[in-house]
Amino acid sequence: MESQKNYKNFWNEKAATSVSAFIAVDGSTNEETARLTGQYSARQVTVALDLQPTDRVLELGCGVGRIGRGIAPLVAHWHGTDISSNMIGVARERLGDHANVGFTELSRSSLQPLADASFDKAYCVAVFIHMDKEDFFLYLEEMARVLKPGGLIYFDVWNMASAVGWRRYALEIDQYRAADHSKRKDVARNQFSSPEEVRIFLDRAGFDLTLLLAESPWVQAIAVRRGSNADVAALRRQAEVATTRIAYSPLWTELFAGILDVVVGTSTPQQMWQALSDDSRGEEVPMFREWYLGMWKGNEAGWGPPPR
Ligand SMILES: C[S@@+](CC[C@H](N)C(=O)[O-])C[C@H]1O[C@@H](n2cnc3c(N)ncnc32)[C@H](O)[C@@H]1O
Repeated sequence: MESQKNYKNFWNEKAATSVSAFIAVDGSTNEETARLTGQYSARQVTVALDLQPTDRVLELGCGVGRIGRGIAPLVAHWHGTDISSNMIGVARERLGDHANVGFTELSRSSLQPLADASFDKAYCVAVFIHMDKEDFFLYLEEMARVLKPGGLIYFDVWNMASAVGWRRYALEIDQYRAADHSKRKDVARNQFSSPEEVRIFLDRAGFDLTLLLAESPWVQAIAVRRGSNADVAALRRQAEVATTRIAYSPLWTELFAGILDVVVGTSTPQQMWQALSDDSRGEEVPMFREWYLGMWKGNEAGWGPPPR
């Protein structure tokens, strides 16, 4: 497929309708699910970046504004950037009631035309996992460029060093094993990283790491752009204290692993549904339930009729 050779075409096709755009960003099949998962991610970003009402904040790969919707009301300016004009179109509609937002459609792995040192904070969730490593690095350099010295960055990438992260990666490997190897790989396929790779990239792109979390299927990193007299040790202490509000929780990882069990056939869709019946376990349960229900509806042929 032609679109698999080019990030822009790929994501514009994925976001051909607003429903398909929602599914492409995180598997959310409706507004309600996107709000639940968006709140979870927005909380992680808010705490990781210690967002302040005076901050100018950049999101790289904003998609439908799943996260930006929760961030824009908290800051002075929120700026969404994305390679896909269709994604930006949906985000623009969803954030239309906020006066402090702006958008830039990107054309390559660069944040041009955004000015040097024009943002206080920047974040990127579930985006670097869909590009070649060179593009990941180029974007980190660009984020360093548009951040003020001392500015903070937060992002996540798939974590092949975690047991559950590796199980997710194994699905990609199996798919590739069975694929036609004479065809070019899909440019936006899921890519996996290690904590060490993230450390190296951040250092080489001009950041000092303040927190690296890698217990879940995600590596999550917070770092400060070099070139200021920011007290990096104090920022590290501040981030460490907030770890439980930034990290994907053990329950998140357990429920994600439960879905992988269904996908590989070691558990049934009904067993997983049962595991999602007890909301007292944590906020992750209702969020996963809606997400999983959407997934079930998309897999009705193999899984049978969904529970509701
Ligand atoms: C999985 S979605 C995540 C969207 C959003 N960050 C969220 O968590 O809801 C990936 C997003 O990254 C964008 N994207 C993919 N490759 C990109 C690239 N090379 N440059 C900029 N944006 C890209 C896609 O268009 C899509 O909106």
